[in-house]
Amino acid sequence: MELRKVAIIGTGHVGSHVAFSLATQGEVDQLYMVDIDKDKAIAQATDINDAVSYLPHRVEAIPCEPEDIGDCDILVISAGPLPSPEQDRLDTLGSTVEVLREFLPRVKASGFNGFIVSISNPADVVAAYVQEYLDYPKHKIISSGTSLDSARLQRLVAEQIHVHRRSLSCYAMGEHGGSAMVPWSHVTVSGKPLKELQQELPHRFPTFDENALVEQMKYGGYLILIGKGSTEFGIAASVTEIIRAYFHDEQKVLPLSCKLEGEYGEHNVFASVPAIIGKNGIEEILELHLTADEQKAFHNSCERIREYIKLAHTL
Ligand code: 2OP
Repeated sequence: MELRKVAIIGTGHVGSHVAFSLATQGEVDQLYMVDIDKDKAIAQATDINDAVSYLPHRVEAIPCEPEDIGDCDILVISAGPLPSPEQDRLDTLGSTVEVLREFLPRVKASGFNGFIVSISNPADVVAAYVQEYLDYPKHKIISSGTSLDSARLQRLVAEQIHVHRRSLSCYAMGEHGGSAMVPWSHVTVSGKPLKELQQELPHRFPTFDENALVEQMKYGGYLILIGKGSTEFGIAASVTEIIRAYFHDEQKVLPLSCKLEGEYGEHNVFASVPAIIGKNGIEEILELHLTADEQKAFHNSCERIREYIKLAHTL
């Protein structure tokens, strides 16, 4: 029987919560934990190993170096700083690139060739940087992208129309950040367009201010950063969902930041789009028919990401 091995580089708030979420949900057998601060990696691994007595199954957390992750199935990149409440995620690019330069050559040296789930901010730009640096096959690297923004959106929409969020199909696309957009024309309740429901059953499905909701979604992370200094539970749950889809070949559609080469008319950019995840990584990117306004908003978001991808090369 093969063990499911996940490496996590960066074991701070986000990386450690991803590790713990994978362990508690039974989605990993071995966790390879890497951090520039070696004592922190040892402490996080030991803490998880303590928890094993009370987990659904045995997990082994192993503090290690990037050179040791060669035969892992998945690499989670969560190194680098979280934005402060005053910062845009894009402002953390310089510090994150500095950390990436430290460990990416060592990841390369390890011979790792599994699936990469990049979380570090700015999420889309970092995924592009890593993909280029490692010259990695594009179907084997994603950023968690708007999987988190989409969870926030689902919470907000569900509150408006009083429907369980799993009965909703709605997600954010584009940047994990200020220019994320929502294709409202594709929001459905079990396949029925929300806009039709709002016309046919206005007492049950009230209309609401869509723009205000998108702003609330975008501000969601900052509300958490202000309140507790880091966001961790939401991202840990969304990354666990991605990893579960990969390990179990679920062929699940998730909003993820993928490299676009012609999809939606976009090139040379990582941006979130609905994508099918299975054992080969990105199995397919789904192209929605967006309205002209939605297409424009998505394009503007891609332009912003591309601008920062260019900037990353000059740092
Ligand atoms: C989040 O949205 C800060 O990117 C982080 O939770």
